[in-house]
Amino acid sequence: AVIIFNEGQAGEGRADRRGVVGGTLGGTTVNLPVVGTTFAVGKELSAPGTVVTLTTHTEGDPKRRTHNVLAESRWGDPDRVAMLGAHLDSVPEGPGINDNGSGSAGVLETAIQAGGLQTRNRLRFAFWGAEELGLLGSKHYVAGLSAAEKAGIRLYLNFDMIASPNHVFGIYDGDDSDRTGSPAGPAGSDKIEKLFESYFRTARQPYTGTDFTGRSDYGPFIAAGIPAGGLFTGAEGVKTAAEAAKFGGRAGVAYDKCYHEACDTIANISDKALRVNSGAIATAAFTYAYSPVLPGG
Ligand code: PHE
Ligand code: ZN
Ligand code: ZN
Ligand code: ZN
Repeated sequence: AVIIFNEGQAGEGRADRRGVVGGTLGGTTVNLPVVGTTFAVGKELSAPGTVVTLTTHTEGDPKRRTHNVLAESRWGDPDRVAMLGAHLDSVPEGPGINDNGSGSAGVLETAIQAGGLQTRNRLRFAFWGAEELGLLGSKHYVAGLSAAEKAGIRLYLNFDMIASPNHVFGIYDGDDSDRTGSPAGPAGSDKIEKLFESYFRTARQPYTGTDFTGRSDYGPFIAAGIPAGGLFTGAEGVKTAAEAAKFGGRAGVAYDKCYHEACDTIANISDKALRVNSGAIATAAFTYAYSPVLPGG
């Protein structure tokens, strides 16, 4: 089953409210207190089975703390890391189930399934804080990497909004083949795009290229020259007639009409998009967990 990480958060995402959401990671129960738009976490995960202790912060404190949650496989070459990430925070206006409980759930499910596998390469999973405040968690993480740590990260995969109710299946356009104006990503990003394309063909699902301009947590990674890719099913943009013919759904309506709104609840999820995209996440993670050659070498 896919765990919707933000499920318990519905109606509790405001700065003056508290809630606790939970899930399991590597067999360990994880409870994340909701503090405003962020989650507060006591310590980082270093291996499956690590117990995470969580603390809340003072309600109404304008200076709030946010944390990234990182989980890493105990297996695989630590100098050859395939990294996956999703942001865990939402905006104050709503509970953030599609944005971004959906991506968090897909990455968490893959992390759980990967926990016991003796992979060739190292898998690292990131749940970012404060994406909505300007990619703060991912920027902080990349800024803190040494040159050697940066070189060890051979690719980064990002999942931000993967179950939009009026979805398309968008793949970040890492080679600028689909959209004029979207800059090509670091070398190797094209290979990630092609892997996702082959997944959708195998799954007999249509796909399209989508914005690769850095509007989510992969931005700091491509700025650092790390090849990246990811999936996106659409936000406030409006579905065209051509897209409705290709993907179904409703032309002239936003991909996610509840984007950054109170109605981004558990009802605001396409089960089909979540299912298909979760398969894409798992396929990419397991492919890169065993590949002798990775997009970043
Ligand atoms: N980062 C945006 C948000 O969280 C969503 C988004 C993702 C928009 C990818 C465009 C491309 O609100
Ligand atoms: Zn958002
Ligand atoms: Zn988002
Ligand atoms: Zn492309």
